[in-house]
Amino acid sequence: MEKVIDGKKLNIPEHVAIIMDGNGRWAKKRLMPRNFGHKQGAKVLEQICEDADTLGIKYLTVYAFSTENWKRSVEEVTGIMNLLRDYLVNCIERASKNNMRVRVIGDRTALDKDIVEKIEELEKATSVYDGLNFTIALNYGGRDEIRRGVTRLVEDIRSGKVDEPITEAMISSYLDTSDIPDPDLLIRTSGELRLSNYLIWQLAYTEFYFTDCLWPDFDMEELKKAVFYYNDRDRRYGGV
Ligand code: FPP
Repeated sequence: MEKVIDGKKLNIPEHVAIIMDGNGRWAKKRLMPRNFGHKQGAKVLEQICEDADTLGIKYLTVYAFSTENWKRSVEEVTGIMNLLRDYLVNCIERASKNNMRVRVIGDRTALDKDIVEKIEELEKATSVYDGLNFTIALNYGGRDEIRRGVTRLVEDIRSGKVDEPITEAMISSYLDTSDIPDPDLLIRTSGELRLSNYLIWQLAYTEFYFTDCLWPDFDMEELKKAVFYYNDRDRRYGGV
C-alpha cells in the first residue's frame, strides 16, 4: 500500500515483525529493576499498535516471550507473566476501540491455565475486528514451532489426511502463522544483530532493520525511520 508520510510517498510494509529488545538495559540506566523496563515496554507496545495502524500497516507481530526466556530469574519470569495477565485483559478493551484483531502464537501448553484462558478470551473477542492484525509471540521459538508443525504434518500423512510430497506451502500451513502473510520488515531494537529463533521460516525474504534505540524508547518517529529504510530497499526475492 502507498501512503504519503511527512510529505513523502511511501510503500507501507503490509506485515512488520518486531523483536522488542533492551528493556533490561533501559531500566538499568535508571537504576531500576528489570521488570520496570518490561512494564514500560508493555506501555510502548500499546502505543506502537496504534501507530502501526495509523501508518497503514496491516499485520504487526511482536516477540514478547521466547522459549529461552524461562532461563531468566524466577522474579523476572513471574514479573513478565503478571504483566502479561494485565496486558491480555486490558487488550480486549483497546482492541474493541481500535478494531484490532489479536492472535497469540507459540506453545501454550507450558503457560499457566489462567493465562491460556485469557488468551482464548482475547482471541475470540477480537476475531470479529478487521483493522490491525496484532500477533503476540508467547513461549515462542522458531525451531519449536517447526518441530510442532512437522509433528502434526507427519501425523496427517500417516493417517492419510495429507498426501506426499511435502511442499513449502504445506509446511507454512502447519505453522502457528498459517493464517498470516510472511513479514515484509523485521525491526530489532537495542543494537543486537541476531534473530534469536524468531520466525526463522517466515523471515526468509524479509528486510531487516536494526536500531540502537532501546525498546522502551521506541515511538512513532522510530517506526517511521524503519519504514523509510524499508523504502530504500529493493526487494528482488532472488530475481534480478
Ligand atoms: C527484551 O528485553 C524483552 C523481553 C524478553 C520481554 C519483552 C516484553 C515486553 C516488551 C513486555 C511487554 C509484553 C507483554 C505482552 C507482557 P531484555 O529484557 O532482553 O532487555 P536487555 O537485553 O536490555 O536485558
